Amino acid sequence: MDIRQQRKWDHLKLSLQADKGPLKTGFDDIYLIHQALANTNFNDVNCSIEIFKKKIDFPLIINAMTGGADGLDIINKKLANIARTCNVVLAVGSQTSGVLDRRTRHTYEVVRKTNPDGLILANVSALVDVKIALEAIEMIEANAIQLHLNVAQELAMDEGDREFEKLEENILKIKEKSNVPIIIKEVGFGLSKETIQKLTQYNINYFDIGGAGGTNFASIEVKRSKNPKDDIINWGIPTAISLVEALSVSKNINLFASGGIRSTLDMVKSLTLGAKGVGIAEPILKDVYINREKEVIVFLQEMKKQLKKLMILCGAKNIPELQNIPALITGFSKEWLELRGIS
Ligand code: FNR
Repeated sequence: MDIRQQRKWDHLKLSLQADKGPLKTGFDDIYLIHQALANTNFNDVNCSIEIFKKKIDFPLIINAMTGGADGLDIINKKLANIARTCNVVLAVGSQTSGVLDRRTRHTYEVVRKTNPDGLILANVSALVDVKIALEAIEMIEANAIQLHLNVAQELAMDEGDREFEKLEENILKIKEKSNVPIIIKEVGFGLSKETIQKLTQYNINYFDIGGAGGTNFASIEVKRSKNPKDDIINWGIPTAISLVEALSVSKNINLFASGGIRSTLDMVKSLTLGAKGVGIAEPILKDVYINREKEVIVFLQEMKKQLKKLMILCGAKNIPELQNIPALITGFSKEWLELRGIS
């Protein structure tokens, strides 16, 4: 196994043990108002959404995690089976290894074979050559591509990239050539309003804000490295706050909230703050890794039911209505947003 392949396994195993770091998602600061005079029947609540020309049963992405080393096809096949059974979105892990080393292609291709009609997202670093991005899309007949921004992770990695000046230019090159929509995705440090402002100027309007408070890649890299600590563990914009920062730039962007989404209530709070959907990664992997695939399916089916119940309590019959329900932002998150001139 080369270093890239070994890293894939390291990330997978260490993500299941790494601590989350001191930052919280901010969802504890968000409150929703109970509406006692319900006006909807449970069976009439519609929590499906349409995105990238596909309808999914409820707004969830099983977020980018893996592929690219021997044995990882087994994990990706299980993830694809879960996504197909629950009719939700699946993103594969970074595909550069699959493009550069054809022997690992099958670890990604398995997701399309398992879920031929599903909504599947390709994933590469925003720094890769355009050709790699295009091949990643083709490899799994992706409906859209996530371009991940992981500068903080690279800096925390001993062998990571140190050259980032071409990042913006490269994103534009990929956008120009891509025949599917591009989604700019963080991996757990959040997107600021300044980042969103820059990217929306280039007509990019899909973002996965990947905020802090969930899987902490700096903490994973510290476990892999010889360094006993790295201050990047304490770095990042909490998920709920990043979501509000991003939406303060424009209401006409499509946002996915990820990074520490751990309950249906986190999902509902994200949607009321304006997200189109949410992404969950590590909690799903944790169960899949120990062959608890059926339990994940039950968990996601229960999540869909919970979503409908909470929508009734918010007074929303469908997702667009939920996106217009006001949320109260209190405490640290309120203070942060006020200091940033966002109210
Ligand atoms: C990830 N994540 C990730 N993201 C990405 O864009 N490309 C990738 O290849 C990977 N690889 C990866 C491996 C493993 C093992 C994990 C756990 C995560 C990040 C992931 O998609 C997500 O943004 C973060 O994990 C935050 O979500 P959770 O885990 O807090 O729900």
